[in-house]
This record gives sequence, C-alpha cells and structure tokens, in this order.
Amino acid sequence: MIKLSITSWAEAQSLVKPLRYEVFVVEQKVPEEIEWDEFDEVAWHAIATADNQTVGTGRLIVTGHIAKIGRMAVQSSRRNQGIGKSILNALIQAAKEKGAQECILHAQTHAIAFYAKEDFEPHGPIFDEAGIPHVEMRLIL
Ligand SMILES: CC(C)(COP(=O)(O)OP(=O)(O)OC[C@H]1O[C@@H](n2cnc3c(N)ncnc32)[C@H](O)[C@@H]1OP(=O)(O)O)[C@@H](O)C(=O)NCCC(=O)NCCS
Repeated sequence: MIKLSITSWAEAQSLVKPLRYEVFVVEQKVPEEIEWDEFDEVAWHAIATADNQTVGTGRLIVTGHIAKIGRMAVQSSRRNQGIGKSILNALIQAAKEKGAQECILHAQTHAIAFYAKEDFEPHGPIFDEAGIPHVEMRLIL
C-alpha cells in the first residue's frame, strides 16, 4: 500500500533526496548543482512511501495565486502503477488549499501526456532546461 504525505523540506529532505538523485542525476543526467536549488527550502514536498521506502516525490512552490509543481519522480521499478498520478493530484489539492488559482509546471516533453490526463494544457514553445526539452503546462484551479 502507498502512503502519501505533504511536508516541509526540513522533514522531507532525508527521505526524498536519494530518490531525486537516482532519478534526475543518475537516470536523466541532470547536473547535480542544478538539481538542488533554493526553492526546496520554501516548497511543500510530497512523499509517497511503500514498505517504508520512498517511491515517489514532487514539490509545490506557491507564490501568490500561482502554484508551481516540479521535481516529479517515481522510482523506476514502480512506474505506471498510478503513484505519479496520486502525487500530482495531492499537489493540486494542496495548491487549492493554499489559495492558488493556477498550477503551472515545466513538463519534460515525454511526460506531456501524463500531465494532460489531469487536464494540464501546454503553453508556448518547447525550451531547454538542464539539457532536456520542456514545455510549460497550466491548469486553472
Ligand atoms: C513522469 C512520472 C512521474 C510518471 O509517474 P508514474 O507513477 O509512472 O505515472 P502513473 O502510473 O501515475 O500514470 C498516470 C497516467 O499517466 C500515464 N503516463 C505515465 N507516464 C506517461 C508517459 N511518459 N507518457 C504517456 N503517458 C504516461 C499512465 O499510463 C497513466 O494513464 P492512465 O491513468 O490512463 O492509466 C514517472 O514516469 C517518472 O518519474 N519519470 C522520470 C522522471 C520524470 O521524467 N519526471 C517528470 C519531469 S517533468
């Protein structure tokens, strides 16, 4: 069974850092100095846990009425089991509770269909971020 919680960086970092390192730095070859940034401190972090292990994460940065979702990652052996979808929906719910009116994110182009299933719509051109093609996607809450 998957347990899901949303918490501060102080509580989340020891649980989510190994998974983000494995997915973004090792698997996707994002330079480590880009992976960790100052926004982690101010973000809310989703932690999906199974068998006392972190299997998924994502973060939410709320600035006024805009909530930015990012760093969505599910352990490679646990993908396509609905974990990412649960994390995304928990972050959308948290954004609403914190008064946001819109969620935005930078989707890696391979993940556009994943976000589109939760009604995010692409906006604007494809751009490069950390060497990976991305497109902005938005969801009005
Ligand atoms: C993107 C990611 C978080 C998705 O998590 P996941 O747990 O595998 O996704 P889910 O199983 O919850 O998928 C939900 C739905 O989206 C679909 N989906 C998932 N990944 C998809 C993809 N890459 N392309 C198209 N559809 C996808 C699933 O088939 C599922 O559809 P359904 O509801 O009709 O059955 C995961 O693949 C991942 O960690 N990738 C590596 C890191 C990454 O690229 N992060 C995104 C950065 S923008």
